[in-house]
Amino acid sequence: MKKLLIVANWKSNKTVSQAKEWLEGLQIEDLGIKNKEVIICAPFTLLPFLRSYFLHPTSDIQLGGQDVSPFFEGAYTGAVNGKQLKEFADYVIIGHSERREHFHETDEELEQKVQQALAFGLTPVFCVQGVETPIPDGVAIVAYEPLSAIGTGNPDTPENAQEVARVIKEKHRMVHAVLYGGSVTPENVNSFTQMEHIDGVLVGGASLDSTVFTQLIENA
Ligand code: PGA
Repeated sequence: MKKLLIVANWKSNKTVSQAKEWLEGLQIEDLGIKNKEVIICAPFTLLPFLRSYFLHPTSDIQLGGQDVSPFFEGAYTGAVNGKQLKEFADYVIIGHSERREHFHETDEELEQKVQQALAFGLTPVFCVQGVETPIPDGVAIVAYEPLSAIGTGNPDTPENAQEVARVIKEKHRMVHAVLYGGSVTPENVNSFTQMEHIDGVLVGGASLDSTVFTQLIENA
């Protein structure tokens, strides 16, 4: 049985009190036995709280950031660097299309972010929009997220996502997991995760409500 990665991308949502409410509604058990790994990628402001909540040794949940500075520590006002992020998280989403669009992140900058993440032991979850998006060296987990599917309720077909995942793995030998992202719901998650080359999902909207997210994890 392959291991499934289920990554929640909270984007720019939730305060600490809302994160507490979310945790109260989350009901997951035996993820290890089911071979599922859940990673919550939260805003920086919530990571210290979530880290203290999930310190419990039986916790099956990992934490991730949604961005990392392309620079090491120093005079970079507003930036959170890899060394700082690693205190609270083990993963980081890099190259999400919303960062490319609204924050004008370029392929060169994303490569620097990947280097910084790897230098501090963070595992990048690198987002691509198709097989042509460049993937920096050292990336092992890729999320295929077609633009037309993000937040639209209009997911890609599992067959197309499977083919994209297969080609990415063929082109980039260092990539060992490809996730699908874009309008994943509890109802459609299994149609993606049952595909041979799809190793999990990146979930935006359906991760914001913990009852819905619990159902999605169950169904994956
Ligand atoms: P969505 O977002 O699940 O709301 O479509 C996915 C993402 O942008 O990571």
